[in-house]
Amino acid sequence: MQAAAPTLNIIGAGRLGRTLARLWSERGVFTIAGLCNRSNESTASAREFIGAGKICGHIADLPDADCWLIATGDADIAATALLLARRLDGQRPLVFHCSGALPASVLEPCRPATLASAHPVHSFAEPQHSLEAFAGSTVTLEGDDEGRALLGRAFSAVGCELLTLNPQQKVLYHTGSVMACNYLTVLLDQSLKVFAAAGIAESSARKLLEPIVTQTVRNNFALGPARALTGPIARGDGETVARQLHALAQVDEKILNSYRTLGQAGVELAKKSGLDEKQVRQLESILREQAQ
Ligand SMILES: NC(=O)c1ccc[n+]([C@@H]2O[C@H](COP(=O)([O-])OP(=O)(O)OC[C@H]3O[C@@H](n4cnc5c(N)ncnc54)[C@H](OP(=O)(O)O)[C@@H]3O)[C@@H](O)[C@H]2O)c1
Repeated sequence: MQAAAPTLNIIGAGRLGRTLARLWSERGVFTIAGLCNRSNESTASAREFIGAGKICGHIADLPDADCWLIATGDADIAATALLLARRLDGQRPLVFHCSGALPASVLEPCRPATLASAHPVHSFAEPQHSLEAFAGSTVTLEGDDEGRALLGRAFSAVGCELLTLNPQQKVLYHTGSVMACNYLTVLLDQSLKVFAAAGIAESSARKLLEPIVTQTVRNNFALGPARALTGPIARGDGETVARQLHALAQVDEKILNSYRTLGQAGVELAKKSGLDEKQVRQLESILREQAQ
């Protein structure tokens, strides 16, 4: 006979919490026991999405469970752990959160519970979409051995890859992810502003950028950044870089600074692909001079 699935309570069944709950519930990984959001309306909408779980108005009303997920926003995790500690009153379930920025130790008030964190490298912008797209994402585990083992099995069961980190690595790990995902968005926004300054409407600019940006992202993963870099810096074309810096200076100082900073990093990258010393020195000097 198959063992019964462990029970899971969720405090904060928002975008991430309700998506994981539905996936785990459908695959029989966890039995969803109780749900508790800030407002009852929000908990009821999570219940409808998941198709399981008892709606509870307060943490104190949640039933006993084998595992507890705190999936509030990061800023509320520590305060929620304090409230949960009172509810657990010495019980020893697994308590975990899914923040990439915080270590499992933020849950210390819940001891003697087992503590862990599991950060899915996935954007849960739209839960319905994430139900389809989540498999294949990497989940980064950190915390007590027993907790990591249980969560490793739970995420593997919904098709995830696993990575284990120690708490000291976590801030830089999360920073790496922020730079690649969030800052790519910031860079695209700056690029659209430059197109707008050239008189090209955002809708047209987005249309023309989509294939080349998608191709660039693919090239980066297939070839690595040094081989994926193209354009004036990769070609050692100082004249073009100087003209672009001059034009940007008339548009926006912050964007000019981004171009200069990223350009300097680009020269470092181009060196790896064989840019000769003379071109390197010329580009470095153009990018520095224009900054003053
Ligand atoms: N979204 C992502 O792409 C993503 C990716 C990886 C990791 N994460 C992590 O996942 C966690 C949740 O993020 P999210 O994007 O799912 O957040 P979210 O959509 O804003 O959902 C947060 C949920 O927590 C509830 N909540 C907030 N404070 C609460 C409290 N004191 N007591 C009970 N419930 C409370 C909210 O209830 P109401 O609805 O009633 O306000 C809401 O349902 C965070 O730690 C985040 O870092 C998110």
